[in-house]
Amino acid sequence: MLALVAIVTPAMIVAALGWVSLRQWERSTELLRREQARDMATMAAEKVEMALRQIEDRFVQRVQEVVAARDVDATALEAVLAGEPLIRSLYLINGRGQLLYPRHWRSPQAANADRDLARRVGDASRGTWGRGDRREVLMAGQLCVVAMVNARDAGPLLAAFARDPDVLRRDVLAASLASLGSGVILAVLDEHGQPVYARTALDQAERLLAVSFRQSLPQWQMAVYAGVDDATRAAVRRQVAVFMAAFIVLCGVIVVGSVVTWRLIRRETEMARLKADFVANVSHDLKTPLSVIRMFGETLEMGRVAEEPRRQEYYRVITREAERLSRLIENVLDFSRIEGGRRRYDIVPTAVEPLVRETLEAFVYPLAHQAFKVEITVAPDLPEVPMDAHAVGQALANLLDNAIKYSANDRALGVEACVEGGELALSVADRGIGIPRAEQARIFDKFYRVGRSDTQSRRGSGVGLALVRHVAEAHGGRVTVESSPGAGSRFTLRLPLAAGRGVPGA
Ligand SMILES: Nc1ncnc2c1ncn2[C@@H]1O[C@H](COP(=O)(O)OP(=O)(O)OP(=O)(O)O)[C@@H](O)[C@H]1O
Ligand SMILES: [Mg+2]
Repeated sequence: MLALVAIVTPAMIVAALGWVSLRQWERSTELLRREQARDMATMAAEKVEMALRQIEDRFVQRVQEVVAARDVDATALEAVLAGEPLIRSLYLINGRGQLLYPRHWRSPQAANADRDLARRVGDASRGTWGRGDRREVLMAGQLCVVAMVNARDAGPLLAAFARDPDVLRRDVLAASLASLGSGVILAVLDEHGQPVYARTALDQAERLLAVSFRQSLPQWQMAVYAGVDDATRAAVRRQVAVFMAAFIVLCGVIVVGSVVTWRLIRRETEMARLKADFVANVSHDLKTPLSVIRMFGETLEMGRVAEEPRRQEYYRVITREAERLSRLIENVLDFSRIEGGRRRYDIVPTAVEPLVRETLEAFVYPLAHQAFKVEITVAPDLPEVPMDAHAVGQALANLLDNAIKYSANDRALGVEACVEGGELALSVADRGIGIPRAEQARIFDKFYRVGRSDTQSRRGSGVGLALVRHVAEAHGGRVTVESSPGAGSRFTLRLPLAAGRGVPGA
């Protein structure tokens, strides 16, 4: 657990740091981008204002020249106006607020509007008198530029003029902004925030910022929009995507690694526990027959048993316990050979029936002693089957040992040998305690014993079935189990009838 924490914590810290620094980097690039956009907007605004100023100064200059030479001469002023398409209309007003030019209105509606405008200009410009400056005045949605000129006879006059929005867009904005701003879109917004001019369509574009024009276009703004093909932003996005992918992979690796490590640790812990159990079980299994042999041996040695039949009985017990002992030791030794990859099999054609009977012989005493009903069914005309007789006998003995050991009150044993599906099927059936379904796959694992009290109360080291499976597989066969708790079990050893599939020496 501690190891997992030790792996996961630094990995998470690294990932978090990476994430934070990425976000910071993203933010600073964004800031830089805005800074650049601001510079761009300011520069563009200045350029527009300069162009505007240039045209308007030239216009005022011409008007000044006309009025200085010829006073309010309508024809000459008309000509000046015609020469400057940007200027839509011109008004000249004297110090008393009288409109000196134009004298004649184009149409009655225009007359009203113009007169009104002239009056307002006059009112609003009163403060301008004497300052000799030019200023922009916004009135009723109309922008007027007001400047001072000096007439020959009429003295100082206010020259007010309005711009033609179409010409402004075409000749000033478009001309000034055409060459500016690659990668971004420059747009001019009016006092309502509506685009007056934009180099390309703005539908999808994201607005970065807007700066106000200084004087020539009061309340208008120069806005910068991110272009669709914004290379910096694309690079940032790509970088973020790459990092995200790496981040996800990293997290995935951490999770998978943690799970694998955890499972490995759990398996190892489980194995260590099983091994400890194994040592305890084997020692116990060795000790019990030894004490029985010793006790009976000593009793006989002391000549305390007078009757011959009792003596015979004692000899049999000693022999049986010695057999058990050697079976156990052989099991353990074979198991260690298998584990070390040193187990050899000598596979030759063997008659099945004698092998079954010989193996059962070793269990005659315990079977009779515990009053087992035994039923042996060996199919007639069984062919000789290629096998290592000793190994298969040992496997069968293990199955018989289990059947006896894990039987309760209903003591019955069925041993069957027949050909089934092209295989030799050697089965051992009992009506014992049975094995829960969930445990059935694990009982063939080394050291594994079902963790129930009725199993644990019976002696065993947990290597018997592992050995059986190994023998079966070494012959190219397998071992299967059908069992249900309380009803009994049937283990079947299935070996191929023809040699060749086996793995001698495996
Ligand atoms: N016929 C059976 N009926 C019920 N449970 C069985 C039977 N055969 C095996 N088992 C269960 O499978 C487990 C594994 O059996 P295995 O023969 O490998 O070990 P064991 O009998 O405990 O020890 P040993 O190494 O001495 O044979 C047993 O502990 C038991 O729980
Ligand atoms: Mg066993």
